[in-house]
Amino acid sequence: MADAPKRTILVTGGAGFIGSNFVRFILKRVQDVRVVNLDALTYSGNLANLSDVLSVPRHTFVKGSINDAHLIADLIDAHAVEGIINFAAESHVDRSIDSPAIFVETNVAGTQALLAAAHEARVSRFVQISTDEVYGSLGPEGMFREDTPVQPNSPYSASKAAADHFVHAYRHTYGLNTIVTRCSNNYGPYQFPEKMIPLMIHNALTGKPLPVYGDGLHVRDWLYVADHCRAVWEVYEKGTAGNVYNIGGNNEHTNLDVVRTILRCLNKPESLIQFVKDRPGHDRRYAIDASRIRRDIGWEPSIDFETGIKRTVEWYCEHREWLQTIVSGDYQKYYDRMYSGREMTA
Ligand code: NAD
Ligand code: TYD
Repeated sequence: MADAPKRTILVTGGAGFIGSNFVRFILKRVQDVRVVNLDALTYSGNLANLSDVLSVPRHTFVKGSINDAHLIADLIDAHAVEGIINFAAESHVDRSIDSPAIFVETNVAGTQALLAAAHEARVSRFVQISTDEVYGSLGPEGMFREDTPVQPNSPYSASKAAADHFVHAYRHTYGLNTIVTRCSNNYGPYQFPEKMIPLMIHNALTGKPLPVYGDGLHVRDWLYVADHCRAVWEVYEKGTAGNVYNIGGNNEHTNLDVVRTILRCLNKPESLIQFVKDRPGHDRRYAIDASRIRRDIGWEPSIDFETGIKRTVEWYCEHREWLQTIVSGDYQKYYDRMYSGREMTA
């Protein structure tokens, strides 16, 4: 008989895109770890993202908020939690431009509540899942390093940067064992179709126009979600307390390139591309220098963009029901509010 798991981690936001991929990664690849998964199930949290792992004995799902200090203290105590990995967040830039307050509540106040509980209970490690967007925007040259000054531009990235500062303060002031990871744009299975790649796949599949913001020449540095999940676990296990680790795959593409690739994978015409009014304050380019995690931890991305995007498109084609359930709810109202009347007339 296999040994019983020896340690328990608290994963927050584990019903979202990256969190659910991470929970699945741990349950498949890390046998001695038990996962307590705390998620508030907001619009982007979805138990269907976990359908194949909900009944795994090493996985306990709890519906609740990172802002609920009592609940977190109880969970840490009841499950003898060794460490916390905080994925829970409001995660979409366009929503943050539309309604910033909830980003402060969840990303800043929620992270602080979690840090306070972690400190109180003396957990051994706290990993904050941050983003490269805290560094701001790049011109045509250069990359974000861990010592690049933080200069967030959107309400989303400002809230994530504020959370990072709280993590640093809990390390500096109370000696909490913290690490911050800053990853570039993720793509892969279970991503909510408000984000660019699944939104474009869904629109292409249903014959709708593909709304490209501005000139479409904004650049993102894409990383397949499984590579991000492995990086987070390796950092949890081997990272140096107090460090920031950038995570990225050297996969820079313009949005227009990505959209054209998706159309090619689906055998759909480029005439579906529709240029729309740009996002206010739209960051032009992100690019990650991930040499610290490569050098100190030995992590390398394993899935190149061509393979990852093909796999992602196939996944969405094979999970039409998952997609349909999402887009048939409040999503349509969101879509109409954000996109109607936004077309550019040249
Ligand atoms: P997501 O929106 O898909 O998932 C967020 C999850 O957090 C959802 O399941 C939601 O229900 C949950 N949540 C929200 N508020 C909560 C609260 N108060 N308490 C508990 N749970 C709550 O987001 P994602 O894309 O999976 O991002 C996960 C994390 O990774 C975020 O912290 C994000 O900032 C960071 N990140 C994302 C990317 C990316 O490309 N998606 C890149 C770098 C970093
Ligand atoms: P997104 O997936 O929202 O991630 P982020 O803004 O956090 O990088 O957007 C990725 C890029 O795609 C970004 O430059 C904005 C652009 N974009 C579009 O052109 N059209 C869209 O409908 C969306 C959602 C994004």
